[in-house]
This record gives sequence, structure tokens and C-alpha cells, in this order.
Amino acid sequence: MNIAFLGYGNVGAPLADHLQRAGHAVTLAAHDPQSESVKKALGRNGGLKVATPREAVSGAEVVFLATPFAANAAAIAAVAEEIRGKVIVDCTNPVGPGLTHGLNNVQSGSEALQAMAPDSEVVKAFTIYGFENFEDNSFPGYDVKPAMMFCGRDAGAKHAVARLISDLGWEPLDTGGLEQALHLEHMTLLWIRMVRVHGAPPRMVWAALRG
Ligand SMILES: NC(=O)c1ccc[n+]([C@@H]2O[C@H](COP(=O)([O-])OP(=O)(O)OC[C@H]3O[C@@H](n4cnc5c(N)ncnc54)[C@H](OP(=O)(O)O)[C@@H]3O)[C@@H](O)[C@H]2O)c1
Repeated sequence: MNIAFLGYGNVGAPLADHLQRAGHAVTLAAHDPQSESVKKALGRNGGLKVATPREAVSGAEVVFLATPFAANAAAIAAVAEEIRGKVIVDCTNPVGPGLTHGLNNVQSGSEALQAMAPDSEVVKAFTIYGFENFEDNSFPGYDVKPAMMFCGRDAGAKHAVARLISDLGWEPLDTGGLEQALHLEHMTLLWIRMVRVHGAPPRMVWAALRG
């Protein structure tokens, strides 16, 4: 699959790296091809391609958005035409002061993003854990795969993202429509508070058990 990344820091870089190694064509959407973040991403995987944001997005079927939440509007506006009809994997989280929901629980960040890109299909995924688990999601002591919960309004878009989730070694867990994003964003806050505040191990994820 042709995949573009808008943002390749803590979250985007390992996902881009591992997706390329899984056989996908992955392009970093770079305003500045000489930036430190581009150099760092290429340093870990020379198989990643680099293009302007407009070129990267127009050549992609799936676009990962892994920017700070406050940068989402600018990142999408820069590729407003090219992103039409594409699947956007929303890896971003609106986090407010004191680890609260950044949009005051009124609307999820993903629904806000969907409103910014109405002709694209937003699927929220890769948000409910810290980046450590995107670097390494192997849990050799267990017989079950770690779960990656995702949601979105379009079945085809979710199918494509579920495949990428599987390719990365997670069990894709479809939680429903995009209205579920608010709950996933709260799962993120739960994880952050447990790990970053209360000291649970960062390599802590959830799995789905079915009787
Ligand atoms: N950190 C985590 O553990 C974690 C886990 C799950 C989800 N998230 C969410 O994932 C998102 C990214 O977090 P992160 O920790 O990866 O952040 P980060 O390390 O700061 O990386 C952010 C990336 O976004 C790029 N960027 C910033 N402004 C941009 C713009 N206007 N247009 C295009 N690209 C822009 C940055 O490029 P430059 O470096 O060139 O500035 C960088 O590549 C956030 O929304 C966060 O809430 C984070």
C-alpha cells in the first residue's frame, strides 16, 4: 500500500519504519527535507521516501496524521486538495491541562478532524498507548496479540486500516463509528495517567479475550 506520513516524531517514525519493513511504500511528507526529524527517520530506515507534503499525500492511499493535535488544522490545510478521497489514520490526541480531554468532552479530536477533511475518511488508531509500544509491540510471555482499538465511519477505510494494524502485529479491534473516538481518547488519558503519573510500566497494553 502507498502510505504518507504527516508527522514522524515519537509516534510517526516507528510506525513509518515498521510499515516500510512490512512491505509498504512509505513516504514522509516533508516541508523541509533537511530537517532533523527527516534525518532521524531516514537514519533508522533508509527505505523511507521523502517528498513534499502535496506530492506525498497525492501519491498515497492512506495518510497517517501524527502531528501535535494543535497542528492538525495546519497540516491538513497544507494538503487540502490532495487529501480528498484518502483514508486518514488519526494518531493524534487532544490532551488538555491536567491531563483532561482537550476539547472538553464536547467533541472528539477525530470528529473535529473529520470536519476539517469532510471528503476523506478518518479512522482513529494508534492512539491508546504510549509510543514505546509502537517501537516494540512484542510480548513474548503471552499467547494473545496486543489489541489495537480503532474506529471510523466508513467500512472500507476501516478494513484498510485493520490490515495495516495486523501487518504491524496487533489484533485489530473495531470499536464502531467515529463517535467512539471520544471514548478512545479517554482510554488514552487513562493509559497516560496510569503510566506517566502513577508509574505503571510503559510497555503496558490491553488484549481482547473472548469466551
Ligand atoms: N507520544 C506518545 O506516546 C503518543 C502516543 C499516542 C498518540 N500520540 C499523539 O500523536 C501525536 C504526535 O505525538 P509525538 O509524540 O509523535 O509528537 P512529536 O514527537 O513532537 O512529533 C510531531 C511531528 O509532527 C510534525 N509537525 C509538527 N507541526 C506540524 C505541521 N504543522 N505540519 C506537519 N507536521 C508537523 C513534527 O515535525 P518537526 O519535527 O519537523 O517539527 C513531528 O514530525 C500527538 O497528537 C500525540 O497526542 C502520542
